Amino acid sequence: MSKSIAGFSKLSKSKKIDWIVDTYFDNTESAKNVLKQYWNNNEKLQQLHDEFIENTITNYYLPLGVAPNFLINKKLYTIPMAIEESSVVAAASKAAKFWLDRGGFKTKVISTTKIGQVHFTYNGDFEKLQQFFTQVKPKLIHDAEDITRNMKKRGGGVVDIKLRDKTSDIDNYYQLHVSFETLDAMGANFINSCLEQFAKTFKSEALAFDLFSEDEKDIDVVMSILSNYVPDCLVRAEVSCKVEALSEDHTVSGEAFANKFVQAVNIAEVEPFRAVTHNKGIMNGIDAVVLATGNDFRAVEAGIHAYAARQGKYSSLSHAKVEHGIFTFWMEIPLALGTVGGLTGLHPLVKLSLELLHKPSAKELMQIVAVAGLAQNFAALRSLTTTGIQQGHMKMHLMNILNQFKASDSEKKVLTEHFKNNTVTHSAVTEALNQLRVTSEK
Ligand code: MEV
Repeated sequence: MSKSIAGFSKLSKSKKIDWIVDTYFDNTESAKNVLKQYWNNNEKLQQLHDEFIENTITNYYLPLGVAPNFLINKKLYTIPMAIEESSVVAAASKAAKFWLDRGGFKTKVISTTKIGQVHFTYNGDFEKLQQFFTQVKPKLIHDAEDITRNMKKRGGGVVDIKLRDKTSDIDNYYQLHVSFETLDAMGANFINSCLEQFAKTFKSEALAFDLFSEDEKDIDVVMSILSNYVPDCLVRAEVSCKVEALSEDHTVSGEAFANKFVQAVNIAEVEPFRAVTHNKGIMNGIDAVVLATGNDFRAVEAGIHAYAARQGKYSSLSHAKVEHGIFTFWMEIPLALGTVGGLTGLHPLVKLSLELLHKPSAKELMQIVAVAGLAQNFAALRSLTTTGIQQGHMKMHLMNILNQFKASDSEKKVLTEHFKNNTVTHSAVTEALNQLRVTSEK
């Protein structure tokens, strides 16, 4: 029977585990062993992970894989990917190799502006609010100088503050809509600290603004927070080649391949049910690199999906065309990433991943991440429009099924060989494994 607990966060790690296993598990020793087998023997490293969040009881492993051979703007990269889905790294590697032989990926950062907002209510005359805003704007910037000084020295900071009238949506609702340049930092803390300072100054200065009535002086700040929607922090990734060059083994002509590929993208452009899965495939690549490089994949996910729906209907993030015998496949996506701050200097695997990527600036990382997304989308569409997705997917999933049945190393070896020429399904693997076990018992 579950029970509530007071002061859980104050318990030691081992007392937390005691409480959890006693409350939720029949076999308390076995549950404890599962948790403890993931503890790191290096106490300092374990403590580092314990202190990332509250109430850490163990570590949760994800595989960190690498996809080599990514040629991006004529520079070669091996891309680190943290992900559990069996076919993603294999697909990325395949797409990288395919485009390595066809000129590689071309990328460009289009813009890098991030957004934050102070949401407030004001009950009064809009013109007076505008006058107040014009007067207070320099003071808003001035009062935040302790926060912005270092960022400004490096060439970033507050780009602009605008007053927005949102009363057609909600009575008395206005915003300070602020744009920022945060350079190599994702900038969440910087932006939120600036916004909270703006809110403070805005509210206190209103009390002293002569033109306001007593009611109008009473500006109520609802909240101050960055936006994860960053349509002006955009990156473009593209591949292109002659249509004939698309044919790999001459079983399908380059033209037939290109036409079907473009059709598949067109479907994702007009059909939201397909667009969501199409974009999910893109996110397989994006999230894996975002995670490996210590960035916030939830922020990236939220921002990208909002962008995919920016025209009022959810649609494909990528596009493809054939023109004058040239196949072009591209994508523009918003990405707010950092290569300094946050986990980037703390998590040893994140540091290693960034070093593997030649210690990129945030702009460079935007381009690498976009490429990982486009490559993943290319690999998925190539399979979908030719062999179907299950062939490659189930081949990669074979090991998971074998592990489920606790197959030994020698059983894995025999069955991997067997399934090189046979279709992998859950039942086919079960049957082949049983057969093997029966034969070896004899
Ligand atoms: C699976 O994780 C991703 C795909 O479904 C993407 C797609 O359908 O384009 C293969």
